[in-house]
Amino acid sequence: MATLRLPGAADIHVHLRDLGETHKEDFASGTAAALAGGVVTVLAMPNTRPPLIDAAAFREAVRRARALARCEVGLFLGGTADNAAEAAALARQAPGLKLYLDATYGPLRLEGLAALLRHFEAWPSHRPIAVHAEGRTVAMVIGLVALFRQPVHFCHISRREEILLIRRAKERGLPITCEVTPHHLFLTEEDLPRLGPFGQMRPPLASRADQEALWANLAIVDAVATDHAPHTIAEKQGENPPPGVPGLETMLPLLLTAVAEGRLELADVVRLTATGPRRIYGLLEPPETWVEIEWGGPWVISREGLFTKCGWTPFEGMTVRARVRRTVLEGRVAFEDGEVRAPPGSGRVLFADL
Ligand code: DOR
Ligand code: ZN
Ligand code: ZN
Ligand code: ZN
Repeated sequence: MATLRLPGAADIHVHLRDLGETHKEDFASGTAAALAGGVVTVLAMPNTRPPLIDAAAFREAVRRARALARCEVGLFLGGTADNAAEAAALARQAPGLKLYLDATYGPLRLEGLAALLRHFEAWPSHRPIAVHAEGRTVAMVIGLVALFRQPVHFCHISRREEILLIRRAKERGLPITCEVTPHHLFLTEEDLPRLGPFGQMRPPLASRADQEALWANLAIVDAVATDHAPHTIAEKQGENPPPGVPGLETMLPLLLTAVAEGRLELADVVRLTATGPRRIYGLLEPPETWVEIEWGGPWVISREGLFTKCGWTPFEGMTVRARVRRTVLEGRVAFEDGEVRAPPGSGRVLFADL
């Protein structure tokens, strides 16, 4: 069976749920899922319980991640109405600052303009501000980038107008980067009747025209990031299903299947999952690190054997032509033939030195 060696992927947008929601995921299970997916570096979002918005919560999360992570982990700081100074003082400890400007899961939505301006004024400009922004909010943030010359990274861009705005802003030379998710590349709102609550996330699945615009503009997309957002099956089937889908274990198989089908070049996959995301946040490629891919199949994506605690995938039933055989991190086999070998605590927390 033909095999291929790729650089270890960096997923710059995941939710690992540690500390307070470890029934959904924790640092050990989330990083196991990463390694099984050929991902050796993850950047974790701050909408945890408690949220990572101050030194005490951040320090506790770093301590837990050091004890439990099996791969490289960076922890974002979250912005609130009143933590601009405290977040800026911690900037060295994190890959960036995350601002939630539109509806999402968790308590971190930033209302109003005043708090947003305080963060743009206080945050040191050499680290990106990552934003959850949708629709007109994207245009508003582009305006702020023009005024402040602050690098901004747009998370999970999903609609045609958004990607076209970002294209124009990049053409004007603004310090902007963006990511798209596998679910917005491989699913649309037409899948919603089939998926029900398991197809609900923010931003929601979009139209086929939106999906086509993402594919057509991949050349100006800096990264594919999963927005791995595990919630349990019971929560998804409950009264008020929380938004979010897991994705760490399926990103590379899906993208490489697009290569097998001639919809993408192998070089695009390397750019979108490794070099591109690493450049945005200044993440060094770990030495002696690679992923071995097996081509062939077809294999059907299934919840069986997943390492994410949530135990399901919105891509269930889809056929792929590539799978991760082995992940080698810093010279050690971290995942091989369906088994995670890297123990909890063998990972490393990036940036933080407290
Ligand atoms: O669907 C989502 N789920 N979108 C977000 O922005 C947050 C995430 C989560 O934390 O579950
Ligand atoms: Zn600094
Ligand atoms: Zn988001
Ligand atoms: Zn997210």
